Amino acid sequence: MTNKRKLLVTAALPYANGPLHLGHMVEYIQPDIWVRFQKMLGHTCYFVCGDDAHGTPIMLRAEKLGITPEQLIAESYQSHIADLNGFYIGFDNFHTTHSPENQSLANEIYQRLLQQGDITKRTIKQAFDPIKNLFLPDRYVKGDCPKCGANDQYGDSCEVCGATYSPLDLKNPISVVSGVTPIEKESEHYFFCLDHYESFLKEWTKSGHLQTEISNKLDEWFTAGLQQWDISRDAPYFGFEIPDSPGKYFYVWLDAPIGYMASFKNLCTQNPKISFAEFWSKGSETELIHFIGKDIVYFHALFWPAMLEGSHYRTPSNIYVHGFLTVNGKKMSKSRGTFITASTYLKHLDPEYCRYYFASKLGSGTEDIDFNAEDFVQRINSDLVGKLVNIASRCAGFITKLFGGKLAVQCSKQNLYQEFVIAGDLIRTCYEEREYNSAIREIMRLADVANRYIDAQKPWILAKSPQNLLETQEVCSMGINMFRILVTYLKPILPQLAENVERFLNTKLTWEDRNMPLINHTIQPFKPLLQRVELNEVIAMTDASKENIPPTITLTDGPLILDPIRETISIEDFAKIDLRIAKIVNAEPVEDAHKLLKLTVDIGGDLRTVFAGIKEAYTAEDLIGKLTVVVANLAPRKMRFGLSEGMVLAAGPGGKDLWILEPHTGATPGMRVK
Ligand code: MSP
Ligand code: ZN
Repeated sequence: MTNKRKLLVTAALPYANGPLHLGHMVEYIQPDIWVRFQKMLGHTCYFVCGDDAHGTPIMLRAEKLGITPEQLIAESYQSHIADLNGFYIGFDNFHTTHSPENQSLANEIYQRLLQQGDITKRTIKQAFDPIKNLFLPDRYVKGDCPKCGANDQYGDSCEVCGATYSPLDLKNPISVVSGVTPIEKESEHYFFCLDHYESFLKEWTKSGHLQTEISNKLDEWFTAGLQQWDISRDAPYFGFEIPDSPGKYFYVWLDAPIGYMASFKNLCTQNPKISFAEFWSKGSETELIHFIGKDIVYFHALFWPAMLEGSHYRTPSNIYVHGFLTVNGKKMSKSRGTFITASTYLKHLDPEYCRYYFASKLGSGTEDIDFNAEDFVQRINSDLVGKLVNIASRCAGFITKLFGGKLAVQCSKQNLYQEFVIAGDLIRTCYEEREYNSAIREIMRLADVANRYIDAQKPWILAKSPQNLLETQEVCSMGINMFRILVTYLKPILPQLAENVERFLNTKLTWEDRNMPLINHTIQPFKPLLQRVELNEVIAMTDASKENIPPTITLTDGPLILDPIRETISIEDFAKIDLRIAKIVNAEPVEDAHKLLKLTVDIGGDLRTVFAGIKEAYTAEDLIGKLTVVVANLAPRKMRFGLSEGMVLAAGPGGKDLWILEPHTGATPGMRVK
């Protein structure tokens, strides 16, 4: 094959402060399929990523957990790697932005921009938390909207009237970190003059590097005017200190995209045959391709090309933007139990189901895609089990039993075989253009053709008469050969299945080899390749995601730091909570739930069933007879194991360290807690 391409592909770097979820898996599966496809065609393709390890949220989260940011990002790194491997994401390198490579590249790019006059400094006023001694990012200040007066709005925009403003404009502002009123404080900040790049960007965003819908969106931003970009943050901050500027740090989004380069640089160190300069020098003939979600377009399509242009590096060839994953039509949310982590998914279901399901929904546009349990089950069972694997399972047994595993010496249906080969041209275009849903439609159309062929030839009848033996072998061999081509086409989506099929067929599945059928070739006995998926397995997975939210509210001692994603409640809200003393009259383990106990509590003559995530701290026997406080008027919640009719309160950080009240005289079941 001529025209070999050299590609460097990236996926957006996940934040190092929490586990990956199914939405992230859209982000990583989409380019992974594309990269596997390019590699299959024989192109040189490197796929890099890494953790995005800097910023205020990571610093505060580490503090809250009582560990250093370095510890937090090390833990995230391990968990991200495990999840990515679990979903067969084949990065050539997964690095981190908190690395020496990234620091030196960030410094170099900054210094080149500075020399060129693209960095300016000025003093700005910001909200400052006087208790924590911390300048507060917009989202860490809440208060009443200056426009419409709505309570409890974030510092950047109002969810009620849509107004955007500065945190300093909020009425009755509070710091989400400490709960105190922030003060205004001045400090000098560094800005990148994005406006210097206006004409470059106007040209660049219209030159085929972006999807049309994205370049149209950018027009709105050009009309609004390009603002200078604040790239510095004051200590304390977890990030890189700006050269010659003690106490000033690069804003996380400055060094995050440089993390793509740093990860690649680190790969070059591991493999000296790969040249950093070849891929990053201005005028490079290689392709640089970024896959991202639609929420981070501004950073990638404006700041990033301008930074690269200004520091004399090459600019991206393409930025491919995808939409968001919703679960049952809604934004993923922890409180709705639709926040499905990658690891919860992996505990319950085969990762290839997810890869296939996402691929069947992904096109080249930026529309959101939905995860729906029934639809998921139907897709997998009807396409993969019912159509694809069925072809092999209907033919392989005869080849093994009657012909010692040998396929026929000729391909009896050349025309049919050619139809399958030629369809590869269309499928290849679909992959190249990220129209995976169309690729799958075409592959499943071919699977229908194959099944119809087998239905018509009826090898199970042919096999009964000795004079038809040769025909039986030819028909079944034809079936196996069609199956081989289909799995070849699906290999970028289903790498593990393809590997198992390679073992079964005793051959590698390559794009080129599909041109020639396997003839007079010995295959291995057929083993089941994929299990049907049952709806209740998917429901068990979504239920387990609900379990991730501990059914006990844990009251921690020490300084109370509010979680920025958790809102404060008013005294009126608090008054609505009916807290009662309850006696635990029975406790028993719950099958399949290693953290839960099923409690029967007496709240003054009324018996309730409550599932509590307390099993690591107490055995069932220990709990019987103890008193606790329950939220008596919590709406009942259906869990996988039954109905939970309340919530038990315990104190402690969770896990083994959780305590409930010891019985003492005075408190009696049903008593109100004040
Ligand atoms: N750290 C930044 C990216 C820096 S890139 C130089 C970030 N991290 S993230 O963890 O919030 O998101 C990582 C990627 O996952 C982003 O491309 C984001 O759009 C994508 N997704 C996050 N939630 C998603 C869904 N629910 N659905 C699809 N993609 C989602 O942003
Ligand atoms: Zn408002």
